Amino acid sequence: MENQDKRREEAQKQLKERLSKIKNTIMVMSGKGGVGKSTISANLALSLAKEGFSVGVLDADIHGPDIPKVLGIEEERLLGDETGGIQPITAFGSLKVVSVGYLLDSKDTPVIWRGPMKHGVISQFLKDVNWGELDFLIVDLPPGTGDEPLSIAQLIKNTEGVSAPHSVIVTTPQDVALLDSRKSVEFAKALDLQILGIIENMSGFKCPYCGKAIDLFKVGGGKKAADELNVPFLGAIPIDAQIVKDTDAGKPFASRNDNSEANTSFREITAHILKSV
Ligand SMILES: Nc1ncnc2c1ncn2[C@@H]1O[C@H](COP(=O)(O)OP(=O)(O)OP(=O)(O)O)[C@@H](O)[C@H]1O
Ligand SMILES: [Mg+2]
Repeated sequence: MENQDKRREEAQKQLKERLSKIKNTIMVMSGKGGVGKSTISANLALSLAKEGFSVGVLDADIHGPDIPKVLGIEEERLLGDETGGIQPITAFGSLKVVSVGYLLDSKDTPVIWRGPMKHGVISQFLKDVNWGELDFLIVDLPPGTGDEPLSIAQLIKNTEGVSAPHSVIVTTPQDVALLDSRKSVEFAKALDLQILGIIENMSGFKCPYCGKAIDLFKVGGGKKAADELNVPFLGAIPIDAQIVKDTDAGKPFASRNDNSEANTSFREITAHILKSV
């Protein structure tokens, strides 16, 4: 019993030591799946790194870890360091990345874990990974308000002297997505997370042939939800076929310095976030 208490105390001490070097954590959440959280996490991380900040990416989507694919680092492997910790993978020169994807035998191996196992691995990712000094840790989450966001929020919040995580909520503009994203906002409020705001992704589509705007999933719902829920609206990103190609190729659009609508909008979103943290 005494040994167990001692181990728990040491683990808490190590967690505190690691977390105290991370200035801001941003949890990227959504109510619905497939709305673009991983895409936005990767682009936000790269955009902040381009502004000169030191940035880590924690892929906390245990059952669907997509960050290695989105950042084009699928073939890498996690290694231990000389202090017994885990060395994160480096992407795009400076991003420090960790994902459960690196612990699986193959890309097709499913993770069949219940809550406590997931909590254990998330806690290890925060406590044992040698993140070093970070300005931002971007946490890519699965959809919903389940075990993973709860574990991240509680582990960080319950560590003395470490500020509560921020949250960014991604939604698409149609009513069903908005209904679910309201739950994410309420989750963040209930856990006292600092809500940076809502991003409306897949917001309208411009026909590549005639340039006419087509509102595939409608537009403006994210802004309306933000106003109603009294949280900031961070910006909208249109549907762009190039984003699908870039994601599949492991090259987030923010790695290209073009003036596409997505990039222009993302620069504004990043500036907005930087003003709030
Ligand atoms: N603005 C956009 N325009 C076009 N395609 C997009 C856009 N944003 C994301 N996508 C594409 O939509 C798909 C889903 O995106 P992504 O994996 O980022 O969503 P997610 O919310 O992380 O999904 P999950 O809930 O499964 O984790 C990907 O193929 C991605 O390339
Ligand atoms: Mg995802």
